[in-house]
Amino acid sequence: MNAPQLRTAVEADAEILARLHARAFPDDPWESRALSRLVALPRMHARLLLSDRKPIGFLLALVVGGEAEILTLCVDPAVRRRGVARALLADLYTAARTARASRVVLEVAADNETARLLYAAEGFAAVGRRPFYYRRPAAAAADALILARPLP
Ligand SMILES: CC(C)(COP(=O)(O)OP(=O)(O)OC[C@H]1O[C@@H](n2cnc3c(N)ncnc32)[C@H](O)[C@@H]1OP(=O)(O)O)[C@@H](O)C(=O)NCCC(=O)NCCS
Repeated sequence: MNAPQLRTAVEADAEILARLHARAFPDDPWESRALSRLVALPRMHARLLLSDRKPIGFLLALVVGGEAEILTLCVDPAVRRRGVARALLADLYTAARTARASRVVLEVAADNETARLLYAAEGFAAVGRRPFYYRRPAAAAADALILARPLP
């Protein structure tokens, strides 16, 4: 993988984001129209990572009220475990600090072990739990864990 490039995601990227989201969350794909509205929101940190001009990952976070809340983080399965998520998170920490946020928060399904390993490696800790938050048509509902990481 050549040196990846990070850029702001805009409404015109909505189809690209939807394709990445569907590959990352096959059971819960977000529609491009919803993603288009999300990236256009004020104070949305929407960043897309490309390698050789190919989109390989993106992160959406709302930076508001002294906090950055990650709404989604998706990495193409073909390039996992190569630091893409870590790069998107580092970029968020920098932007959130600049906006004077003091912590990053997110919700993750309790059974999403890969994401939990990522966030643990990044210094996030559980600060809450929402029982049966993720309802699934073909499986039992999963709790949501609320994770937070300070931005010193
Ligand atoms: C979770 C996800 C974003 C990780 O993306 P990634 O680019 O593969 O992660 P990185 O390569 O940056 O990994 C950083 C660290 O996280 C941990 N980690 C990530 N994936 C891991 C795995 N499969 N097993 C163990 N540890 C893992 C490791 O500590 C890793 O560092 P290391 O490779 O030096 O050991 C990706 O798997 C994904 O898109 N999953 C589906 C969507 C999702 O669950 N999103 C997060 C919830 S919002």
